[in-house]
Amino acid sequence: MRIALYGATGYAGMEALRIMLQRTDLEIVWIGSDTHAGHPLAEVCAQFRGASIASLRYSAMRTLEEPPDADVALLALPHGEAHRHAPGLLARGIRVVDFSGDYRLPPALYEQWYKRPAGPVETPAVYGLPEVFRADIRSARLVANPGCHATAAELALLPLAEKGWLDGQRVTVDAKSGVSGAGRSPQLTTHFVEIDGNFTAYRVGQHQHTPEIEQTLAQASRRRRRASDDASAMSGASMATDAASSGRQDDGAVKILLTTQLMPVTRGIYATAYAPAPPDMNTDALYELYRNRYENEAFVDVLPPGQIPELRNVTGTNLCQIGLFVDDRTRTILVTAALDNLGKGAAGQALQNVNIMSDLPDDYGLTATARR
Ligand SMILES: NC(=O)c1ccc[n+]([C@@H]2O[C@H](COP(=O)([O-])OP(=O)(O)OC[C@H]3O[C@@H](n4cnc5c(N)ncnc54)[C@H](OP(=O)(O)O)[C@@H]3O)[C@@H](O)[C@H]2O)c1
Repeated sequence: MRIALYGATGYAGMEALRIMLQRTDLEIVWIGSDTHAGHPLAEVCAQFRGASIASLRYSAMRTLEEPPDADVALLALPHGEAHRHAPGLLARGIRVVDFSGDYRLPPALYEQWYKRPAGPVETPAVYGLPEVFRADIRSARLVANPGCHATAAELALLPLAEKGWLDGQRVTVDAKSGVSGAGRSPQLTTHFVEIDGNFTAYRVGQHQHTPEIEQTLAQASRRRRRASDDASAMSGASMATDAASSGRQDDGAVKILLTTQLMPVTRGIYATAYAPAPPDMNTDALYELYRNRYENEAFVDVLPPGQIPELRNVTGTNLCQIGLFVDDRTRTILVTAALDNLGKGAAGQALQNVNIMSDLPDDYGLTATARR
């Protein structure tokens, strides 16, 4: 398969290159950079000296002097840039995996949270969280790769949403990220002296992954309801839903209160979600629920009760590790999810999606980082 990589000099783009260069079935035919157009890869990124494509030259993206002739284009570009490139690529029959938020939300929500005009949406995008949308990703022309905080929060809360336990609830997600999550362009808030020995929240009440998480969990809950309705129709019985049996009104979608914070580390997302516990739920039962839900997922590793995820166990991998606890005193479920923002939070997940689009196993070329 021939791959074109837009944004090949960025953190997410370089991670995608690093992963792809371990495979022989992918041919990287085009790498895009405006700043370094015309220069060979290894001259700009010395980590790729000796690689098979070390002498491949970057092409300009803005002017599209040499439009790529590829099967799949990975767009590792800032928000707003994918809208400029994806329509032309799709029109030429090139499938697109976009790393940005440009295609994750309906236009009105995108404009509200990203504070920029939405682009044209001629090709429907499939949200690239394989653990929910694998069947749709397989045939997708355009995949909207999820955000890094969103991936952690969604995997942490999905089994609860699918039970209907989050419907109409307010759920708190406290999420920390490494500084590479902010990208390579220098900013005052992310340079060394601001970060080293420091800790702060950012975009309080305004983080753009909030609606993305709400949307995915609402879709998961709707799927459960549909499946439950189908089962009722088939049996002819009026079955009590899990939400109803938990003694709560099923009165709408989940609301996420997301607070993001910057950790003084380079890579990693560490998110803890707090949700109300249904009656009789305890840590062992919660573990069984999560273990069953994710038992066939190569990249979601549910830790047994008593074990807590640690960043160092997931950095450099495509894994999301999940730890669980039910606090009996406050009747609260705590779910902690740890992943690498550049792995399962970006490039690793994008290549997992490329595998699915190519009818390959999810972990093809990613096995070194899969759950064993
Ligand atoms: N970093 C993460 O952990 C992470 C996680 C999930 C999703 N994402 C998403 O992935 C995309 C890339 O993120 P990143 O962290 O890799 O960004 P980055 O390090 O800042 O890299 C951005 C890349 O885009 C290119 N680019 C094109 N137009 C640009 C513009 N107007 N301003 C700045 N750069 C421009 C740059 O190329 P040249 O300067 O060489 O021309 C560079 O290769 C973003 O949409 C981001 O939200 C990132």
